[in-house]
Amino acid sequence: MKKLGNHASLGMRTLAVHGGQRPDELSGAISTPITATSSFSYGDFDSGARRFSGEEPGYMYSRFANPTVTAFEQRMAVLEDAEAAVACASGMAAISATLFALLKSGDEIIHVGVLYGGTEGVIRNLLPRYGITPVFAADVQALKSAFTPRTKMVFVETPANPVMAIVDLAEIARLSREAGAISVVDNTFATPYLTRPLEKGIDIVLHSATKYISGHGDATGGVVVGNRQWIDPIRTLCLKQFGGCLSPFEAALLTRGLKTLPLRVEASSNSAQKIAEYLSGHPAVSTVFYPGLKTHPGYDVARQQMKLFGGIMAVDLKGGIPAARHFLDKLTLVTQAVSLGDTDSLACHPATTTHSAVSAKIRLESGITDGLVRISIGIEDTEDLIADFQQALEGV
Ligand SMILES: Cc1ncc(COP(=O)(O)O)c(C=O)c1O
Repeated sequence: MKKLGNHASLGMRTLAVHGGQRPDELSGAISTPITATSSFSYGDFDSGARRFSGEEPGYMYSRFANPTVTAFEQRMAVLEDAEAAVACASGMAAISATLFALLKSGDEIIHVGVLYGGTEGVIRNLLPRYGITPVFAADVQALKSAFTPRTKMVFVETPANPVMAIVDLAEIARLSREAGAISVVDNTFATPYLTRPLEKGIDIVLHSATKYISGHGDATGGVVVGNRQWIDPIRTLCLKQFGGCLSPFEAALLTRGLKTLPLRVEASSNSAQKIAEYLSGHPAVSTVFYPGLKTHPGYDVARQQMKLFGGIMAVDLKGGIPAARHFLDKLTLVTQAVSLGDTDSLACHPATTTHSAVSAKIRLESGITDGLVRISIGIEDTEDLIADFQQALEGV
């Protein structure tokens, strides 16, 4: 590992390039080599036995661990300032493994506010099949009265997909600790560049690395960071038992993406701020959900816990589904697609795509109306994006 002195004194751009990185021992290659192998020779009989019993360190089989994947995990741990990290095949693999590794039959999990549709699905529909009870709290205020002696975990997402709801992480950490519950944050939208939840006292942070961490829309992955106490059981479940390991090819792409994370997030956040201001003045738009707007209910908390306000926003168009269809179909520079956090700007209609599996009632309670369009701002020139939105809104 490179000697970087005290990590705490280094800026995030330096850490994104150098943190947790080491030149390849054999070749000296600076970029992490892709170790494309399923198994590793352990030499002799006794060494094999020692590795499998955990007495001797060393790689054995790529489902358990792989050097390219380890390199990505170490870099993520540095960026989130965590003791340990485990990489998984996708964001959903990371989320499912965290829930199933740390919860057992009889436990309760409180999920606060809006969550990504896939996460909602696992918490509301899958966990009850294994005797784990989901309890919904609309916000931090509601959370205070939702704890019971059976509460084991509190799960939040901030900013939350797709209406950019902001949850106060320091409060979540404090209340969870007082109640003896593990606090878990999906930090996909903020990235470690904008928010480091562990510094606020949160126990576990996870990401869909498919988004900003990859940043180029060319890899699928997930990662969970925190103390070993939590990461070790998640690693065993996710990799050894569920088999949801990250491929070394994806790990190399994610590691490369990390190097430019601060630059990309900064560019898209600055652009998003200007675009949100432009869209909020447009007559076809009823509301812009962006935490950098003073009208956003989460503005004050976001200012405290985020370095910038991020690159994602949602706009509610006055004309419902016909307006959303017209707007999305007329975009030329911005691509219609789910996912977010890419160099390319993307836009989608949550009610019929990302959140289509969520019931209409829950969708509306979460602010996912028929006219809502989610936009992920990429790193193109702001003026070009505004021109595209302007022409697409004509005639809405
Ligand atoms: C906030 C958030 N968490 C988790 C996920 C799931 O990640 P993945 O698609 O990598 O499984 C998504 C996907 O959109 C997301 O937006």
